[in-house]
Amino acid sequence: MSQPAHADLRLGKWQDCLADVTCDALIVDAPYSAKTHSGHRAGERGGRMRACGRPDRARARQDIPYAHFSDDDVFEFVESWAPRTRGWFVTITDDVLAPSWARALRSFDRYVFAPLPLVETGSRVRLTGDGPSSWSCWIVVARPRTPEFVRWGTLPGAYVATNEQKPVMGGKPLGLMRAIVRDYTRPGDLVCDPCFGGCTTGLASMLEGRRFVGAEMDPKHFEIARKRLARGWTPPLFQDASPVAEQLDLTGSDD
Ligand SMILES: C[S@@+](CC[C@H](N)C(=O)[O-])C[C@H]1O[C@@H](n2cnc3c(N)ncnc32)[C@H](O)[C@@H]1O
Repeated sequence: MSQPAHADLRLGKWQDCLADVTCDALIVDAPYSAKTHSGHRAGERGGRMRACGRPDRARARQDIPYAHFSDDDVFEFVESWAPRTRGWFVTITDDVLAPSWARALRSFDRYVFAPLPLVETGSRVRLTGDGPSSWSCWIVVARPRTPEFVRWGTLPGAYVATNEQKPVMGGKPLGLMRAIVRDYTRPGDLVCDPCFGGCTTGLASMLEGRRFVGAEMDPKHFEIARKRLARGWTPPLFQDASPVAEQLDLTGSDD
């Protein structure tokens, strides 16, 4: 029988606060490459011009409030998590780091599939006029080389999601994350997201009847996530909701 859904949200760097965790599936949307982070800023500077030619500061885009990932960060992440992940390893990333994730996972004996395109329709066009905007990122998925995972079942070759308001910069649509959780985990599995941001993966895991553990190092993002889970998760019928109430402080205001 599968265990009841519960969420364990930890504030801090994953390197410090998840050392005791092993999980069934790792689903992460870690920071992207330096190219994506710098492109975010450049797109704004060049593009947001008023008719008079001055930058429209009132509508300036916010900086991405966390550091980009490098090849070394990717390797450190996989080296730590591959031995502690019993099943699928799913990471959402950009075109620059997709090969780094694949290389690192292969070096820890995972079978790595060709990256799956993730297209978010309805995003803005690129505002600098120097080329097309990217509405896509990539999902690198890898499985253990054991029979259970070879016979896992049918999986989609791409994901399409509609751009929606994000809980934090770089957040992912909830419908997308619910689909990924359904595809790569079984009911009752423990899903881990060591860089959970607004915790869309955690909310999706709760809504799909999985257990969740994760970390977020930015206290503002952590608070957004905590309130979001307290507000957004309706316990399934006939399931004991007490573990969530114990793990999360549900007594504060939820605004
Ligand atoms: C792209 S965002 C995740 C967004 C999330 N998927 C969502 O839908 O809300 C990446 C997050 O990773 C966090 N992060 C980066 N390095 C971290 C680390 N070492 N430990 C914990 N969190 C980290 C950042 O603060 C940021 O909130």
